[in-house]
Amino acid sequence: MNTAMELQLFSLPSFLFVSLLSLSLYLYLYSTYKKPRKGGFKFYPLVGALPGFVKNRHRFLEWTTEALKDCPTHSAVFHRPGKVHGVITANPLNVEHILKTNFENYPKGERFIRHLEDFLGQGIFNSDGELWKVQRKTASYEFNTRSLRSFVMENVSFEISNRLVPTLTKAIKTEQLLDLQDVLERFAFDNICKVAFNVDPGCLSGDGTAGSDFMLAFEEAATLSSGRFRYVVAYLWRIKKFFNFGSERKLKKSIQIVHDFANDIIRSRLEAKAAKLDEDLLSRFIGNYENSPEFLRDIIISFILAGRDTTSSALSWFFWLLSFHPDVERNILKELETIRKRNEKNIGDTYSFDELRDMHYLHAAISESMRLYPPVAIDTKACLKDEILPDGTFIGEGWFITYHVYAMGRTEAIWGENCNEFVPERWLENGIYRQENPFRYPVFQAGPRICLGKDMAYIQMKSIAASVIERFVIDVQDKDKCPDKVLSLTLRMKDGLPVKVKERHVDVIW
Ligand code: HEM
Repeated sequence: MNTAMELQLFSLPSFLFVSLLSLSLYLYLYSTYKKPRKGGFKFYPLVGALPGFVKNRHRFLEWTTEALKDCPTHSAVFHRPGKVHGVITANPLNVEHILKTNFENYPKGERFIRHLEDFLGQGIFNSDGELWKVQRKTASYEFNTRSLRSFVMENVSFEISNRLVPTLTKAIKTEQLLDLQDVLERFAFDNICKVAFNVDPGCLSGDGTAGSDFMLAFEEAATLSSGRFRYVVAYLWRIKKFFNFGSERKLKKSIQIVHDFANDIIRSRLEAKAAKLDEDLLSRFIGNYENSPEFLRDIIISFILAGRDTTSSALSWFFWLLSFHPDVERNILKELETIRKRNEKNIGDTYSFDELRDMHYLHAAISESMRLYPPVAIDTKACLKDEILPDGTFIGEGWFITYHVYAMGRTEAIWGENCNEFVPERWLENGIYRQENPFRYPVFQAGPRICLGKDMAYIQMKSIAASVIERFVIDVQDKDKCPDKVLSLTLRMKDGLPVKVKERHVDVIW
C-alpha cells in the first residue's frame, strides 16, 4: 500500500464514516438485544437464546432450572434459529392447563413424533389422537385388573429371591464393585418383559451379563434419539441421517438391535398365539388382526422403555440419596420391623401387597427422591393454537411447551424453603402418606395421559427397596459427589452407581 492511499484511508471523512458506522451498529445491536426480564433466557439479535444454549446444552437441566427459578411466574420463553420457539414452565397452573384443562390443544405434536419416530415408531409414547387412544384403551385393561397386581407381585418376588438377592450376596463374597444402576435396569427389564409379553430374558440371571448387547443398544438408542432435540443447528441430524454419518449411523445400528429383539418376541408369540390368548398385554394387541407386525414392535419398544428405564432410574437416585441420609434409612428399617412383627414375618420373607401398602414411610421416601430426581425430568408438548397461558405467558401456534418436572421439585413456591433437601416427612400426615396434587408433582404426568404403570411401579420399587435395605448395606462409592447425569428419555447416571455390598446385621442398627 503506498503512502498516498494510507493517508486517504485515515483522512477525516473516512474516520467520521467508520465512526458513524460503528456507532449505528452498536445502537442497533443495543436496541435489539433484549435484556431478559428477571430470570429467563438471554436473547441476542438473530440468534435468540442460541449462545446460552450452546454453552449449556451439556448441563441443560441445571441451566433451564436456573433460568426458571428467578422468573416471577416460573415460566420462560425460548427462541432459537430454525423456527424453534417455545415456553418452558415450572408453574403448576400452566401444567394443569396443558395436561388437563386444554388437553386437546397440546398433543405430543409433529416435531416430537418426528424426532423419536425411528426409535419408538407409533408406540403409545410417540402417538396422538386415535392411534394413542386405541393403545391407551387396550393397555388400560391390563393395568386396571386385580390380576395384574398379583401377577406383578409373583414376578417381582421371583426376580428378587432368585436373581437380585443372589447377585447382591455374590457381591458380598467377591467384594467387587457392582454397578447398582445396571442391576436395577436388568431387574426392571426382566420384569416388564415377563409382565407385558410373557417372555423372560433372564438379564439378571447367571453372571448378570446376559442381554448386554441389547441393554447397551437400548440405552444408546434412547440417548441418541433424545439428543436430536438438542442439536445446535436444529435438524442437522436429518442430514447426518441421510448420509448415514456419525451419531445417526450409531443410532441406526442400535435401533436395528432393538428391533431384532422385539421382532423375535412377536415371532415367538405369533407362533404360540392359538394357545395363549388374552393372557398378557401383548396378546391383547395381537388379538386385533389389524395390528401389523411393525405396530406390535412399536408397542413392545414403548413398554420396555416405560417399564425398564423409569423404576431403575428412580431407585438408583433413591439409593444414592439414602447413602448419606442414615436417619431416613433407619426410619425405613424401623417401619419394616414393625410390619414384620405385626405379621409374624422374618427378614427375607416376601411382603404381601397389603404389607407393601402399609409402608407409608418408604412410599414417602421414594416419592421424595423422585421429587428431586424425577425419572422423566422434562416432558414436551406442542401448541396447536395461540393462547395466553394461565400465568399470562403468550404461547404461539407451532411452539413447543416443556413442563420442567426437575425444576418444579426445586421451586420454593411449590415446596417451601427446604425444597432442595431430602425430607420424606413432608409427605406424611400423622404417619400416613398424603398424595400430592399431580400438577404440582407431575412425576407420573397427569390428566388423560397420566402414567398407566404408576401403581405397578410403586409395588416394584417398594418391594426391591424393602428387600435390599433389610438384608444389605449398600456402600455407595464417592457418595459425596452427585453422580453426573445423562438426560436421555429418562434421567440416568452417566457412570452408573458403583457400590460395595455388605451384609446387614439389623440389631446393630438401633
Ligand atoms: C417410577 C416409575 C415411573 C415413572 C416416573 C413414570 C412416568 C411416566 C410419565 C412422565 C409418563 C408420560 C410420558 C409422556 O407422555 O411423555 C408416563 C407414561 C406412561 N407410563 Fe409411566 N412411569 C413409571 C413407570 C411405569 C411402568 C412400570 C409402566 C409399565 C409398563 C409405565 C407405563 C406407562 C405408559 C404405558 C405410559 C403412556 C401413557 C399414555 O401416553 O397414555 N410407567 N409414565
